[in-house]
Amino acid sequence: MAQLSVKICGVGFSNPVIAASGTFGFGREYNELYDISAAGGVSTKGLTLEPRPGNPVPRIAEGKSVILNAVGLMNPGVEEFIKNDLSWLKSKTTVIANVAGRTLEDYQGICARLDGIVDMIELNISCPNVRAGGMALGIKPQNVEEVTRLCKAALKTTPLIVKLSPNVESIAVNARAAESGGADCISLINTLTGMVVDIERRRPVIANNTGGVSGAGIMPIALRMVYEAAHAVDIPVIGMGGITCGKDAIAFMMAGARAVQVGTANFTDSYAIPRIVRETDEWLDAHGIADVNDIVDTLKLN
Ligand SMILES: Cc1cc2nc3c(=O)[nH]c(=O)nc-3n(C[C@H](O)[C@H](O)[C@H](O)COP(=O)(O)O)c2cc1C
Repeated sequence: MAQLSVKICGVGFSNPVIAASGTFGFGREYNELYDISAAGGVSTKGLTLEPRPGNPVPRIAEGKSVILNAVGLMNPGVEEFIKNDLSWLKSKTTVIANVAGRTLEDYQGICARLDGIVDMIELNISCPNVRAGGMALGIKPQNVEEVTRLCKAALKTTPLIVKLSPNVESIAVNARAAESGGADCISLINTLTGMVVDIERRRPVIANNTGGVSGAGIMPIALRMVYEAAHAVDIPVIGMGGITCGKDAIAFMMAGARAVQVGTANFTDSYAIPRIVRETDEWLDAHGIADVNDIVDTLKLN
């Protein structure tokens, strides 16, 4: 058994494998299958100030080695989460609250509400935003820096993770923009924008036409971006995108991630997270590595 616990911005995780936002709800359904304390942490479904019904259906489509989703920010709202789920989830594992909004004031308001009662806050800046003219806030570096600065100002104690969008000109520039705005940590990647077409109907499969691409097929892109971002900033990085097994998690950590998140893999294998924790441990044991932290940022370029 290797030592698997990691610490990010002073927050402890029992292991580096965290459930990714939007693929694990608030953990209740998975906890019926296994004790979700097995996860190093859970990033919640994206929370908004008010409840949101999400986008029209169909909102999920399958591609090759990937899925496409346009679920939208379907969630019960931050107050319902605090009332019904937060203390239960905290009794199980480390809680990262993933937050979203349409306006900068929304983001600030949710951060202020969650400050001091969750372990970390993760900003989803990939959703369409009023300030950016309907475009995602996460695209232009100046918007990334601004939303980060405003949210950081609303927080007294809880460390702030900014989750970067991959649909950008330079991931390194946006990583540095988050760091300049005061982010304590960055996570990446969110989904890539894509389309799946039903050629018989000559229409996109999902009602929203386009959606976010995730799953095994995006992993090489995610790994490259995690490497570039981790080498552009001094703050810790959480890596994700297509992880399906322990060896994938190890690759992200070698590229510079201090922990990883697992999303779409939960849909193809409900037990993906405990399996990936076990496989990571087995790989470390097989290579005589006593502490998972020792593999972080050990990748050597050719
Ligand atoms: C159905 C679905 C819903 C998602 N919802 C959110 C969300 O609410 N907030 C967020 O930051 N990311 C969300 N994501 C993105 C994932 O957290 C993750 O960044 C992405 O899927 C890449 O990881 P993966 O390939 O392991 O799934 C969602 C992804 C999927 C597939």
